Amino acid sequence: MVVTTKPEQKAKIGPTKLLINNQWVESASGKRFETINPATGEVICDVAEADAADVDKAVEAARKAFNSRDWREMPACKRGELLYKLADLIEANKEELARLETLDNGKPFKDSFNVDLPHVIDCYRYYAGWADKIQGKTIPISGPYFCYTRHEPVGVVGQIIPWNFPLLMQAWKLAPALTTGNTVVLKTAEQTPLSALRVGELILEAGFPPGVVNILSGYGPTAGAAIANHMDIDKVAFTGSTEVGHLIMEAAGKSNLKRVSLELGGKSPNIVFADADFDEAIEGSHFGLFFNQGQCCTAGSRLFVEEKCYDDFLAKSVERAKRRIVGDPFDAKTQQGPQVDKEQFEKVMGYIESGRSEGAQLLCGGNRVGDRGYFIEPTVFAGVRDDMKIAQEEIFGPVMSVIKFKSIEEAIERANQTIYGLAAAVWTKDIGKAHAIANSVRAGTVWVNCYDNFDAAAPFGGFKQSGIGREKGEYGLQQYTEVKTVTIKL
Ligand code: NAI
Ligand code: MG
Repeated sequence: MVVTTKPEQKAKIGPTKLLINNQWVESASGKRFETINPATGEVICDVAEADAADVDKAVEAARKAFNSRDWREMPACKRGELLYKLADLIEANKEELARLETLDNGKPFKDSFNVDLPHVIDCYRYYAGWADKIQGKTIPISGPYFCYTRHEPVGVVGQIIPWNFPLLMQAWKLAPALTTGNTVVLKTAEQTPLSALRVGELILEAGFPPGVVNILSGYGPTAGAAIANHMDIDKVAFTGSTEVGHLIMEAAGKSNLKRVSLELGGKSPNIVFADADFDEAIEGSHFGLFFNQGQCCTAGSRLFVEEKCYDDFLAKSVERAKRRIVGDPFDAKTQQGPQVDKEQFEKVMGYIESGRSEGAQLLCGGNRVGDRGYFIEPTVFAGVRDDMKIAQEEIFGPVMSVIKFKSIEEAIERANQTIYGLAAAVWTKDIGKAHAIANSVRAGTVWVNCYDNFDAAAPFGGFKQSGIGREKGEYGLQQYTEVKTVTIKL
């Protein structure tokens, strides 16, 4: 496997400063940090590092923008036009953005270009269309009164995003916040700051007023915590680990009771019945686990297979995993790139070790690929028990755990034995079984005979410790609006 070292041959590096009040600025401390190419382990470039002082500056700009007539009194359809324009600019720069995403994150360019970017563009367009369709109600209350509701923006919104889908997470956060008239301070993940900053440039080009969108690169315990604790941020939206989700809620509780929406981890059950279309179930389960190097909150990481077809399914799944092509993310043949960084690489290798030591059967993979970058072989474990660490904790890597079950009741019971409730899937030709699973599994999304099917219009979020609130679709608007009741005496 040969991975070219020179990042500039792969992608054009965009801005590396902070975007505050429509200006590119260095951080107050002057500090910068390095972002690494996970395919080689080498430094791509450094970027300005935001800390609490920069968060303060960005919040001040966002507050001023929120109160400014330029934004508050902008006709709703104009907000939509700005978002449409941003979508068009992203589309016009699609290849450049996809290259930058791949360089910084390590995901195959084929995926950045064909999956991430189209979803990003759809998301901005979808919410652009909502801008002038956000309506309250008239309510028939008792007495000589006229009562109506207004759906108003929440205010200054702090948004903290992860590194697994940097551009898409930025879109899921910015698009609904802006279409409803909020202003934003967005902090990207320290592993992947570059693509969001390039979108910052396009936001300026689209013509958003100063302070409406502020983009900060920086670390969680510093810049991220400053957002969660800030007294003048009205709402925080977070995507990332359940562990940090707890900290965000705690900070909101201890500061100003800012509204909180959380999209956290998962340990999603993927349930295959013997009556399923076998080939589709094999391919769909492979995709549902290994897509994006396994770095998906929805990863089907508990693969329950009915006893009747278990041996055959397992053999075919292993064969499929062995055929997965791991390599240079810029190579068109590559299906799997490196894990995002050394920390994630080591975490995943640790889970593989734990699966082995707890007695799961390692049927393929388990090793590092090459001697630089953070590549891991597609790995399949069989004989996984529910109490093993690999069946309980989010691995976030290319590690499949196959688990045998006998009856539908058992499948439901065991599928729900988790602190998480993000997603689930079922493969069957029996519509009764499909509905039974869809209704009984405690998860925010259930896929039937498909996996990781996402659409800007379909709501997404978690039950239990997988999160609070829904993103995307019409439901996503609720996270970004306050309902105001107006009562007029007649
Ligand atoms: P993380 O939850 O620490 O990071 C996500 C975002 O939160 C980043 O922007 C980070 O800077 C920020 N953050 C970290 N600590 C913070 C704090 N104290 N206050 C405010 N913001 C903070 O996740 P990390 O460390 O990148 O990955 C750890 C594990 O989390 C992964 O192995 C995976 O299991 C899970 N994860 C889940 C994601 C999802 O899509 N639900 C995305 C990324 C990670
Ligand atoms: Mg962390």
